[in-house]
Order: sequence, then structure tokens, then C-alpha cells
Amino acid sequence: MSKIHRIAPSILSADFARLGEEVKNVIASGADWIHFDVMDNHYVPNLTFGPMVCAALKPHAKTPAGQAVPIDVHLMVQPVDALAQAFAEAGADYISFHPEASGHVHRSVQAIKAKGCKAGLVFNPASPMDVLDWVIDDIDLILIMSVNPGFGGQSFIDSALRKIEQARKRIDASGKDIRLEVDGGIKTDNIARVAAAGADTFVAGSAIFGKTDYKAVIDAMRAALATRAS
Ligand code: DX5
Ligand code: ZN
Repeated sequence: MSKIHRIAPSILSADFARLGEEVKNVIASGADWIHFDVMDNHYVPNLTFGPMVCAALKPHAKTPAGQAVPIDVHLMVQPVDALAQAFAEAGADYISFHPEASGHVHRSVQAIKAKGCKAGLVFNPASPMDVLDWVIDDIDLILIMSVNPGFGGQSFIDSALRKIEQARKRIDASGKDIRLEVDGGIKTDNIARVAAAGADTFVAGSAIFGKTDYKAVIDAMRAALATRAS
């Protein structure tokens, strides 16, 4: 299920002085989703942007033909609930949070879905996925961190591959249509291995926005994904 690959550029590595233009350019270059990294200088030691920036970017998140492109909000914040609601109102399509940052994970998931958004859970490199035993039927996305959250431009942690395999087994056993996204250190030269482990959605920040030709990078990622039979 969900085997159609999606590439989700993280605007964390975009030029913040020209965010609207960056979003438009990366979509014109083939981005499937826009990954929006929200950091609060509390859950992670960095600070980015909030719901007002999401609302401002929403009108730019469409293809040149006018089709809406999903905004994939990755909350690295604690507490979760008030900001999740604010992002739902700001036009987020997917809202994912780290279970350790919520006192009541099931309630946070339900609150996101009650706003009409898709809900996701994010697992850090050393976080167990046991919570999935209890909420997998309620979520739309699992996000596996392949770096420690807080900064772009870090190196892929190889143990994430085993975790992706485990998450894929859980999703397949559930029989639900749940996307399996991976975030951190994804490049053209490792994306095929990440897909082979079972991921279907790929966040990439510095690999895309660190280059001048976004389309060349996204095309190379798709070519690498096409080299493996899935
Ligand atoms: C890290 C963020 C990532 C980050 C990925 O906390 O969640 O989305 O921007 O950046 P790269 O692709 O540069 O590792
Ligand atoms: Zn992220």
C-alpha cells in the first residue's frame, strides 16, 4: 500500500527571506509535498516558524496548474495540542508530532483528525515504536527520523533502516493505508536504500535547497527510486 513515492522538500534549508518563491520553485521542480519543520527551542534546541508563516505560504503551495500541494507539518514542539490546532487552522494537510512531547497521544491524534487533517507520529532514532500497538488504526502517517531532530544537514543514521523495516511490517500487518516517511540525511545516493527498507515518502532539505537546480536533484532522486523494483 501507499507505494507511490512522494518527495517532500523541507523548507528548513530554503532561503527564509524568499520563502513563498522557494515553495513555488520547488513545486515547479517536482516536489510532491512541502515539509514544514516547526521547532520551538524547547523540545529541540532550535527555533523556526509558526502557524502564521504556514498560513502565509498556503496560497503558494500549488502546482503551476493550480493543484494544491499538501503541507506536511512536522511539529518538534512540546506541548503539542495548541500548536497542532493552530496549524490545522493555518492550512496544514498533515500534522505529525513526537509522542514523547504529548501527555496524551491518543487525544492529540484525535484532535488533529477532528480538524480534518491527517495525523502522523514521529519516532526519533532512539525512540521505541511501542505506542503504535495502540494507535496504528488511528493514524495516517509514520515518520521515522534518520537524524536527531533540530537541524538540517546532518548525516543519515543507518539504524533507521532497521526501524523503517519494522514500521513497514507494522503498517502491512495493520492493513491500513498509512504513509511511511523518512526524515534526515536523505540524498540521491541513499534514497534507493531507504525505499528498499520500506519507505514511500522522503523528506530532503539540504540535498535539494543546498543546490541551485532543484529539478535536477528531484529528477535524480526519482531516477534512483526507479532503479529498484517495488
Ligand atoms: C530535522 C528536520 C528535517 C531536516 C532535514 O529536525 O526534521 O526535516 O530539515 O534536513 P536534511 O535533509 O538536510 O537532513
Ligand atoms: Zn522534519
